[in-house]
Amino acid sequence: MNTQMLVDEAVETLQSQIDDTAIIACSGGIDSTVAAVLAHRAVGSLLHCVYVDTGFMRKHETEEVSEMFSEMGIKLKVVDASERFFSNLEGVTDPEHKRKVIGEQFIRVFEEEQSSCGAKYLVQGTIAPDWIESGGGERDVIKSHHNVGGLPDDVDLVIVEPLHEFYKDEVRSIARELGIKSSERQPFPGPGLAVRVLGELNPERVEACREACHIVEKRLNEAAGDGKCDLPWQYFAALLPVRSVGVHGDARVHGETVVVRAVTSLDGMSAKYSPIPHDVLSSISTEITNTLKGHVNRVVYDITHKPPGTIEWE
Ligand code: XMP
Repeated sequence: MNTQMLVDEAVETLQSQIDDTAIIACSGGIDSTVAAVLAHRAVGSLLHCVYVDTGFMRKHETEEVSEMFSEMGIKLKVVDASERFFSNLEGVTDPEHKRKVIGEQFIRVFEEEQSSCGAKYLVQGTIAPDWIESGGGERDVIKSHHNVGGLPDDVDLVIVEPLHEFYKDEVRSIARELGIKSSERQPFPGPGLAVRVLGELNPERVEACREACHIVEKRLNEAAGDGKCDLPWQYFAALLPVRSVGVHGDARVHGETVVVRAVTSLDGMSAKYSPIPHDVLSSISTEITNTLKGHVNRVVYDITHKPPGTIEWE
């Protein structure tokens, strides 16, 4: 079946499934965006698209996602819930605990949105590997991949999953067919920058990580565009609560550490660190320490494969 036929069939099925108000949590990621566009084609304004700004989004991400939806003619409600996330995460440093708190807060925010629009249906961007891999696979033991946006089983909504039978490559071609901009974005974890800021989460530390991630993305996109290296499968920075001594002029100062991570992978299950040219690493290091002067004075590059390391640091 060609992609256009897949789209037509999915829209028809959605029309037969949804006859009342529906809600979908949109992150801007490919799966939820494709599901939202298909459902919008099927039922138009019966669909309520909600984007929750947790405070852990990448630089300009909220604006870019809003713009993408507005260009596609789909109304997106942006809920700024960052204060609530930060206050509930005060003092939380354990990675699994962080994910749990974030997941719970997400559900609370979403429930409020659901009751305000009176939704009867919940559209989700679940794809085939999501349910094939769930059910107690060994991977779940390694890290609870709590998908932010994953809702409890007892939710009082009829669940509709238009991508349930599709694999990522099919979702990508549907996204291209639908003209969705996010179809080429690199993977980004549901809990966002929260799992890239090790130790306590506060707006200043998250902002430092956001800036460092932006610099890594920008420099590696430039380097790949100039033919200096391949664009890695995933590339970002994490902020470590490791303080070391540095120098600013005549003064010795204490600053935190940024680790740069770039990997090649097919599906995230295993990965090799990417061989980034030294001049590119050097430009990343200089820009990070200049931009985050006073906060970060050391930048390191992670040369660990997966396994034994994971791609993210938490
Ligand atoms: P790890 O760090 O386990 O990550 O090697 C493999 C891939 O999954 C992403 N990742 C997550 N995705 N929720 C998600 O939706 C999560 O909690 C989460 N943790 C990691 C990671 O970015 C990589 O692409």
